[in-house]
Amino acid sequence: MKVSASFLNSSNVPRDLKRLNETDVDYIHVDIMDGKFVPNKTMPFSEMKNIYKFTDKRLDVHLMVQNPEKYIPLYAELNTEYITFHVEVMDKIEEDLELIKSYGIKCGLAIKPNTPVKSLVPYLPLLDLILVMSVEPGLGGQAFLSSTHDKIKELRALLNSYHSKALINVDGGIDNKTKKMCEDCDILTSGSYIIHSENFQEKIDGLR
Ligand code: DX5
Ligand code: ZN
Repeated sequence: MKVSASFLNSSNVPRDLKRLNETDVDYIHVDIMDGKFVPNKTMPFSEMKNIYKFTDKRLDVHLMVQNPEKYIPLYAELNTEYITFHVEVMDKIEEDLELIKSYGIKCGLAIKPNTPVKSLVPYLPLLDLILVMSVEPGLGGQAFLSSTHDKIKELRALLNSYHSKALINVDGGIDNKTKKMCEDCDILTSGSYIIHSENFQEKIDGLR
């Protein structure tokens, strides 16, 4: 199992990014919020881009924003493996997925807990990744929604039926207990469970 670490709930981002850099974590999950798609707002790109000073891990960028096209060119400049935005933005989804691909970066779509997996069907041929939200997006430290278990199973069956090779990433409330409900995933994204611990590597080992 691959692990992506979210630092959204970190009280000291430079320190925690340096600590994560010393682990074998696969990706750094970068949560971006615009105050429109979700109520909260994260730091502007001018600050966020400094991530590179503290870690050389590949980035898994999660855009919780209404206008992904404004953010894609910025985050494409960093050491980015995936850029994911939400299927709920409705507008210009194919265009924005193609924009991500034009930078040679893998693209993903995220789905909120109440959005049905079938909403992904039109975009499956373009997708490298699907980010299943196991909490409502917008805040770290929330409890994992148990309905996610069936949703992941349903998504895996859908991907198989369409011969899609997209990876499944799950995000929100992931720890050593809730991971058992995510066995059909390829990547676990975990924030508070890792960041609020003394030993990051031990927690990452527990998620694999
Ligand atoms: C929630 C974010 C998540 C979150 C994960 O909106 O997308 O990435 O920070 O953090 P935990 O593991 O604390 O739920
Ligand atoms: Zn996220």
